[in-house]
Amino acid sequence: MTRAVRWGVMGTGKIAATFARDLQLIEEGDVVAVGSRRQSSAERFGDEFGVARRYDSYEALAADSNVDAVYVATPHPLHLENATLALAHDKPVLVEKAFTMTGAQARELVALARSKKLFMMEAMWTRFLPHVVALRDIVARGKLGDLVMVEADHGKWFAPDPDFRLFAPELGGSAMLDLGVYPVSFASMLLGPPSRMVAMVDPAFTGVDGQASMIFGYESGAQALLTCTSRARSATRACITGTEARIEIDADFYAPTSFRLITRAGEVTDYRFDVAPRGLRFQAIEVARCLEAGLLESPVMPLDETVAIMETMERVMATLEPSPVL
Ligand SMILES: NC(=O)c1ccc[n+]([C@@H]2O[C@H](COP(=O)([O-])OP(=O)(O)OC[C@H]3O[C@@H](n4cnc5c(N)ncnc54)[C@H](OP(=O)(O)O)[C@@H]3O)[C@@H](O)[C@H]2O)c1
Repeated sequence: MTRAVRWGVMGTGKIAATFARDLQLIEEGDVVAVGSRRQSSAERFGDEFGVARRYDSYEALAADSNVDAVYVATPHPLHLENATLALAHDKPVLVEKAFTMTGAQARELVALARSKKLFMMEAMWTRFLPHVVALRDIVARGKLGDLVMVEADHGKWFAPDPDFRLFAPELGGSAMLDLGVYPVSFASMLLGPPSRMVAMVDPAFTGVDGQASMIFGYESGAQALLTCTSRARSATRACITGTEARIEIDADFYAPTSFRLITRAGEVTDYRFDVAPRGLRFQAIEVARCLEAGLLESPVMPLDETVAIMETMERVMATLEPSPVL
């Protein structure tokens, strides 16, 4: 049995709460401390999740010697600063997606963790879900043949509130950084970094990117067709097509779900997984495993890949059209 990681959570927003709730389902980790910009928020979070150590600053949280690892659950523009703070206090760190705002920031953060010989991982929780572990295994065993096409989309509808995190420029508002990162990371997991790309990115009503369609090409000849939008609830399915067979992943492809393996001849095998939502705990189990093994990064979500994903994201986001505004 892996030793339980004593987690310190930075920020008390939506995903911090989901993480704390999910950790209650496993033995490999406990949230023991929380840091907030306000004591009252730390108290509220502490009461809700039974967390005893409550701080009114991220600094105090990072300095707590009872914390084994820090989970950065703040808006993306703060990830670099907040993760740097955790590393400065010699804490391993799990950083929410999108990892940073840019490729340069990702490189800076990774270089710091490596120089301090501290574990770090992007919280791309999808990679650790049972259905993704299973489909990665099917692909690795060559069941699909050569990969030809990866399709994935992630569209969610949000009320058009200019102060909401996905629309507010100062909070890193961006359909790509919140939603598009899932299809981009999914394609990266299967095909690596693209060698060619065509993208169309349109702004939401605040001017931040609100919708993107991407076509990536790879040295192998494979292609990926990826989309995201913060303007509508899309099918959120994914498909991996190879010369021998394809995998059709049900909605939501990035969350606990099921899939079908369909051979070229049309034989269908269903894969179902009994996973209670939300599934953030599987990445925490991976962090516990890595820390116990003395690893500085996860082989399933390596830091060089996180940097490459942020570089790809940045290239796509650079094609944002100034108009029309959606
Ligand atoms: N893995 C997932 O499924 C998933 C889902 C949603 C979001 N995320 C990621 O998690 C991060 C946070 O998203 P969220 O939806 O949890 O956001 P949120 O509900 O707005 O919470 C963000 C928290 O960050 C802290 N914060 C620090 N500086 C802030 C500032 N200037 N403005 C607002 N909040 C600030 C706040 O906590 P205090 O006030 O306590 O300091 C706030 O509660 C994002 O990077 C997002 O992409 C991941």
